Amino acid sequence: MARKITVNMYMTLDGYGEFPTYPGSDVPRREPSEGFIDMWINRYDSVDTILFGRRSYEGHVAVHSEAARKKSDPEYMFEFSRFLDRTQKIVLSHYLKKTEWQNTRIMKGSLTRIVGRLKREPGKDIIVDAGPSLVHEFIQRGLADDYRIAVWPVILGHGNHYWGPMFKQQTLKLLSVKTLKNGEVMLHYETVR
Ligand SMILES: NC(=O)c1ccc[n+]([C@@H]2O[C@H](COP(=O)([O-])OP(=O)(O)OC[C@H]3O[C@@H](n4cnc5c(N)ncnc54)[C@H](OP(=O)(O)O)[C@@H]3O)[C@@H](O)[C@H]2O)c1
Repeated sequence: MARKITVNMYMTLDGYGEFPTYPGSDVPRREPSEGFIDMWINRYDSVDTILFGRRSYEGHVAVHSEAARKKSDPEYMFEFSRFLDRTQKIVLSHYLKKTEWQNTRIMKGSLTRIVGRLKREPGKDIIVDAGPSLVHEFIQRGLADDYRIAVWPVILGHGNHYWGPMFKQQTLKLLSVKTLKNGEVMLHYETVR
């Protein structure tokens, strides 16, 4: 079976990708939230590649590589870092020439071509972890096999937006909906081809 491409999205109710605070969101945790378990932990065994936009990649190196971890961080975040360290990482950039993080390849150009190439390579499933503008291109071109969307209970009104013009309609099948403790909603949709 072909490798599945899942786009992870975290957004406000009005579709912005900025990270807001709201009651409960800023409470430090020693244990992973249900949302984090769904987005990441439950997928450690089935995913071996993550595709990042350059800005998201730089953010992850600085905060989530194991080398960047602080001793006081909870164990589940160390596990997340070990997962990221061992995973194949694709960073999209027109300008980067090299990176320090292990298991990283730099790619650029047509997303359709890049996704086609990754799908032809042997391996497990792939997660796209990028900002709203790059994710919008995935949506617009219908490149994702499924979407995992965390919706925060916030209407923000500004920032980088996920939604925009489409080349053609895309129909989705709802696989699951879950409501989390602080009012976030986790949506899982599969693309109907
Ligand atoms: N809500 C969320 O889940 C989430 C996730 C990540 C980021 N964000 C927010 O989104 C903002 C950043 O968004 P973003 O969309 O600019 O970040 P991004 O997706 O992480 O990175 C965008 C960069 O990716 C590279 N890129 C994109 N398409 C490419 C292609 N086809 N070929 C080669 N390189 C390509 C370019 O890098 P070069 O400039 O190097 O060419 C571009 O500047 C921040 O405010 C951040 O907080 C939100």
